[in-house]
Amino acid sequence: FEAGLQPKLLLGRMVLITAGPTFERIDAVRGITNTSSGKMGYAIARAAYEAGAEVILVSGETALPTPVGSRRINVQSAQQMLNAVDNEIATADIFIGVAAVSDYYVLNPSEQKIKKDAHILTLELGPNPDILANITAKPNPPFCVGFAAESENLLEYAEAKRKRKKLPLLAANLVQQAMGREDNELILLDDSGETRLTRAPKLDIARKLIAHIARLYDAEQT
Ligand code: CTP
Ligand code: CA
Repeated sequence: FEAGLQPKLLLGRMVLITAGPTFERIDAVRGITNTSSGKMGYAIARAAYEAGAEVILVSGETALPTPVGSRRINVQSAQQMLNAVDNEIATADIFIGVAAVSDYYVLNPSEQKIKKDAHILTLELGPNPDILANITAKPNPPFCVGFAAESENLLEYAEAKRKRKKLPLLAANLVQQAMGREDNELILLDDSGETRLTRAPKLDIARKLIAHIARLYDAEQT
């Protein structure tokens, strides 16, 4: 299908998406981040717009142009991402967490560049809030979709994550098969089991994921 010929499965819906990596400052020039190009999240934003949705994309730092049709909110840290999501969540029908959120932040970041010496440097890290789990813990959450990139035990870890975060749908992939690439393959886990999306360009995968989300979302409304 061409972009304009996609079925309008999400017409009138508001879809809120997080994408890209977060970045936690260590000092004036350094930080802790996660590996994420943002490509999968941006492809999903585009596919949601093609399906007729209003799209808000809360994005960590990426080298990508804003997808057509998305309102993009740029953030750096996980806390900033949480704040941006909190500001928009009330009107969202569907939330898709694709961002690679740093699980920790630096407790005492330095204003100035830390100078090196020959000693061991210890950083103290505190846990970041879980943006997705915060949403599903609220009363009447939007339809929530999580992503799980695992490096081993994919299905076991992913299904445990889906249960823990109370997600109707979780998209799982192996980091070795997804990171930085133009294509991807996903296993979708929901209450009726597994659906495998075989290797394809990320936009094709995104369109199939959006169709799957729309089916589950519509079923939940009835
Ligand atoms: N996520 C989030 N906020 C966080 C951490 C994760 O919103 N602070 C979301 C991600 O965007 C993704 C899902 O939760 O949709 C799973 O992220 P992942 O890092 O795989 O799960 P964690 O619960 O952080 O577990 P771990 O990193 O230990 O595997
Ligand atoms: Ca994590």
